[in-house]
Amino acid sequence: MSASLRILALISLAAQNVAWPQDPIPRLHIKYREVIGQRFLGNESHVEHFKLLERATTSILIGARNAIYNISLHDLTEIVDQRLQWSSTEAHRQLCYLKGRSDDECQNYVRVFGRQGPDRFLVCGTNAYKPLCRQFTIKDGAYVKKSDIDGLGLCPYDPRHNSTAVFAEGQLYAATVADFSGGEPLIHREKIRTERSDLNQLNGPNFVSSFAYQDYVFFFYRETAVEYMNCGKAVYSRVGRVCQHDKGGPHAFSDRWTSFLKARLNCSVPGEYPFYFNEIQSTSDVTDGRYAGKSARLVYGVFTTPVNSIGGSAVCAFSMDNILEVFQSAFKEQETINSNWLRVLPEKVPEPRPGACVNDSRTLPDITVNFVKAHPLMDDAVQSYFSLPVITKTSFNYRFTKVVVDPQVKALDGKAYDMLYIGTDDGRVLKALNTRAPETRDNVSQVIVSDVQVLKHGQAVKDLLVVHLAGEASKLVVFADSEIRAVPLHHCDSPAAATCRSCVALQDPHCAWDAIANLCVAVPTKLHDSDNSKTLFQDIPNGKHRSCGYEEMTKPEQPVVMPEIGRGEQPDERDNEIVIELDRENQYGRTQPRANEPQGVTVTPVVYSAQTLTGALIGTCFCSLVAGFAFGFWFSQRLRGSSYPEPSEQRQQLNRLTESSESPGFNNKSINLVLNVPPKNPNGKNANSSAENKPVQKVKKTYI
Ligand SMILES: *[C@@H]1O[C@H](CO)[C@@H](O)[C@H](O)[C@H]1NC(C)=O
Ligand SMILES: *[C@@H]1O[C@H](CO)[C@@H](O)[C@H](O)[C@H]1NC(C)=O
Ligand SMILES: *[C@@H]1O[C@H](CO)[C@@H](O)[C@H](O)[C@H]1NC(C)=O
Ligand SMILES: *[C@@H]1O[C@H](CO)[C@@H](O)[C@H](O)[C@H]1NC(C)=O
Ligand SMILES: *[C@@H]1O[C@H](CO)[C@@H](O)[C@H](O)[C@H]1NC(C)=O
Ligand SMILES: *[C@@H]1O[C@H](CO)[C@@H](O)[C@H](O)[C@H]1NC(C)=O
Repeated sequence: MSASLRILALISLAAQNVAWPQDPIPRLHIKYREVIGQRFLGNESHVEHFKLLERATTSILIGARNAIYNISLHDLTEIVDQRLQWSSTEAHRQLCYLKGRSDDECQNYVRVFGRQGPDRFLVCGTNAYKPLCRQFTIKDGAYVKKSDIDGLGLCPYDPRHNSTAVFAEGQLYAATVADFSGGEPLIHREKIRTERSDLNQLNGPNFVSSFAYQDYVFFFYRETAVEYMNCGKAVYSRVGRVCQHDKGGPHAFSDRWTSFLKARLNCSVPGEYPFYFNEIQSTSDVTDGRYAGKSARLVYGVFTTPVNSIGGSAVCAFSMDNILEVFQSAFKEQETINSNWLRVLPEKVPEPRPGACVNDSRTLPDITVNFVKAHPLMDDAVQSYFSLPVITKTSFNYRFTKVVVDPQVKALDGKAYDMLYIGTDDGRVLKALNTRAPETRDNVSQVIVSDVQVLKHGQAVKDLLVVHLAGEASKLVVFADSEIRAVPLHHCDSPAAATCRSCVALQDPHCAWDAIANLCVAVPTKLHDSDNSKTLFQDIPNGKHRSCGYEEMTKPEQPVVMPEIGRGEQPDERDNEIVIELDRENQYGRTQPRANEPQGVTVTPVVYSAQTLTGALIGTCFCSLVAGFAFGFWFSQRLRGSSYPEPSEQRQQLNRLTESSESPGFNNKSINLVLNVPPKNPNGKNANSSAENKPVQKVKKTYI
């Protein structure tokens, strides 16, 4: 950018009084080791690809490899006799091997669940690359198989595919792929689907979520933007919707949607040149709340920059009313292949309005149905509810993957805040809030209360669930591919919040300084209106309380970064760009300690005489020679024993190890081995997860 342009941009930023929000610094860091709590690992001999299927009051159903687990939310243990085993048949597996797939892929990963009644449900699994759905009933506490349905277009082939599905009024709506290679995406309900290979409708989509709302089913996804006219290509985030009562079109359109429309989601930092976070990764559920005196139903989404650019992540909120409005506004079209994408003039839109929900879509005139097929895209983008993203973060180390909301948590001052829990692709959970949400939509103040390394490095957070159970401390359940963990919602008792100032500086509605007990305490919800709050100090907007002043006069006034443990020990958990670069080195310095180097000699400025030095040199050389020989000899002996073991032999050895030790920790070890590889592998979690499971899966192969 030329200097004048940049100045222009700056001026305009100043004029509009908007600026790139400062990356919020987490008030609290908690390292992996510190995290204690409940967890569920499933069958540790392979990657389970856990998927949350259903949340009941005190239990959750988890889709996994060849099984559905029923897990108690009290302690994350499996409920006895409630496991549903469902493996692919041998014939399907053989077919899968013939397609050239690995043993791990030729399993049944359960992905889709729909409850059709209190004791009736439908589940779908990848079924060794031949998706299959199965109806079950529950009789006397046991699962009874009813019937099988072809799962094509309802469930993906690969457990890692970005698909979504939702049950509404007894019908399954799925957004997935309908072919083996993943090249034919579709949004589908029984008998009705999107057009085949019509890039106007779906263009290489990655689906992230879906839910039913009013008469509609909404789908959130990212796809290559057809309307992007500059050179190269761009991915945009979309919200798509269909009517639940769409019965298909007349005549030849009988198996096509008459109500599929989509719009762009705009998650950006405003300015003369807005900065876009274009790639949606997940959404929260719809939440009700009050913001700046108005009620709204919001859905929060995680948006990131493309993988090959600077790592930026943001959380934006969208109001459902806004989304519905955009679908009532103008359509977009490109008249000829070389013309621009423009708003369709109102007089060119036929009646009845294309895409609207009607009683019987089979009676719609052809002109309306043709129009909606050719114009699925709305001209307006859905703008985010607050004028800025609620949280933005630039980091070389991680990106956001998932956001979940604990809506309208009341602070001591009576104001309610949406608490956001944000998962990252390196196993953290950030707890964050917009402290200005109760007052205004025109500005945000981003606060990250805590940054907790819940999972080991490299493991991505796939899903999150906030759990409030009567009579128990609330918790956050964190889902990874092979692990489910529960962590507390707050860390008020952390040593880093042990003073009045640091406790209040958390800006966490869950925590307050108790002036009588001299402790940072969790605020019980029922306490809010009572007199006790006079001795409890909290300040969500600014993180400063008058009453904290006196006791810390001696300490320097900078309670912002408060690492849980010694600062230097967790450099990779801070996110300042410059710090990261330095920290990278530190980190490698730690993981590959140069222990053999004579560190002291080079650094210590002690003067030795030439004689001493020569003696030392000769001595050192001799010592290294002897040591080197001994080591080499020992190593060669060892290697001769196994003479460069073939990978499969290594695996057999591993297998023997498991058998002899019977230790459930074995798999932990193997995961450890994988994770010791420097964590920031460009392929991210997929690479990791397959690396994790492959050795183990082959174990099985050699033995069967
Ligand atoms: C784990 O899965 C393997 C097959 O992959 C199976 O043989 C073993 O019995 C399972 N273990 C448990 C505890 O279910
Ligand atoms: C899971 O277990 C709970 C507690 O036993 C039970 O109430 C619930 O029905 C189970 N869920 C399913 C789908 O079987
Ligand atoms: C699914 O989404 C994840 C996260 O954005 C991405 O890394 C991965 O490549 C996607 N999978 C496919 C098959 O595109
Ligand atoms: C997206 O929002 C920004 C404000 O954040 C605005 O400046 C920009 O014009 C919007 N872009 C679109 C395509 O609506
Ligand atoms: C749609 O059907 C309902 C009854 O099923 C009827 O009351 C309503 O008038 C119909 N609407 C239209 C536009 O035909
Ligand atoms: C938003 O808040 C920041 C600091 O809190 C302030 O500098 C900025 O001027 C505000 N912007 C608007 C548009 O009010």
